[in-house]
Amino acid sequence: MNRAQNAPLPAKLTPNLGLKHRNTFGFDANAELAYEITSPEQIPAIISEVKKQKLPWRILGGGSNVILPENLPGATLLMNILRQEVLSTDENATLLAVGAGVNWHELVAWTLENDLPGLENLALIPGTVGASPIQNIGAYGVEVADYIESIEAFDVKEHAFVTITKEACQFAYRDSFFKQHPNRFIVTKVVFKIPKAWEPRIHYADLAKQFPEHSNPSPEDIFLAVCKIRTHKLPDPKVIGNAGSFFQNPIIPNEQYETLLKAHAALVSYPDMPGKRKLAAGWLIDQCGFKGQRMGSVGVYENQALVLVNHGGGSAQDILGLAKCIQDKVRAEFGVSLTIEPNIL
Ligand code: EPU
Repeated sequence: MNRAQNAPLPAKLTPNLGLKHRNTFGFDANAELAYEITSPEQIPAIISEVKKQKLPWRILGGGSNVILPENLPGATLLMNILRQEVLSTDENATLLAVGAGVNWHELVAWTLENDLPGLENLALIPGTVGASPIQNIGAYGVEVADYIESIEAFDVKEHAFVTITKEACQFAYRDSFFKQHPNRFIVTKVVFKIPKAWEPRIHYADLAKQFPEHSNPSPEDIFLAVCKIRTHKLPDPKVIGNAGSFFQNPIIPNEQYETLLKAHAALVSYPDMPGKRKLAAGWLIDQCGFKGQRMGSVGVYENQALVLVNHGGGSAQDILGLAKCIQDKVRAEFGVSLTIEPNIL
């Protein structure tokens, strides 16, 4: 076969694609030019065109951590790179390369079926593998950064494919180098390093409660327990539109925490980096009386105040209006600012 025959087909282009079923809030949104990316090689040509025509552009993965406006002008790249392969395995660890479009939960399930435990605490987090490092997804004491070896991406500024080491990713709580440099990198592949040594991590109160004391749960037990908790606490986007946690848990200086604790003895918080304390935003919002409240088509979920929902027919504007009310009340009540977690496109 010659080179031309080996080259992938250009990305499929659909003008005016409706994205209602491609964002978990279920907002009506129209992508002017939607490109389905099935191979990294398709990206440079699209980006060249976008640069030439000075078009706005963005990437959409699973649509589970975004707030979409009604109209998305320019190019929307629908990430659908699905290749997955074991790169190497030895007595210490397995290196696994996974395409950015692979569904996150399916990857977690696959690793367990293939005797590569480690990701089980991150079961049932919606979204794609390519989105996982951007906000460094985390749950029940584990973050995806713990398992990342490197990332392959297209660097839009340099117009070249790059490999970014874990150290260069600057991972932090719900944060990374990619999040700090929006629209610069298009993640195409994540290389995971899954160590052979495994230990259960069930220290998070919610998870610990699922197991009798001194029990020794298997990775599968933990996977099922996490699925059970999440199914109960977080609404199923197929039934009620949402994007998981809507706000980050705020991290505040210890002195501010001590003052708050004096006024609110029941304040829920966790230790964080030295000199800081992480507060449970869900608790703060709950205390302000928002849990289960509605504002037109949108509202606050009845079982978890950190989750905002679209009851049907809501829009980005509606959800941001509700978010502003919550932020104002929490600031007035506790003097704490809440940062929105999903990306506003
Ligand atoms: N709480 C309330 N009322 C509420 C909700 C929470 O009082 O309505 C209090 C409870 O005391 C609870 C505490 O707040 O124990 C913390 O709540 P929870 O354990 O549900 O965790 P979270 O802080 O709300 C974070 C992540 C979740 C992750 C869970 C489990 C963030 C922003 N969210 O939620 O991640 O699944 O911990 O580790 O860090 C996501 O990012 O979309 C997400 C779901």
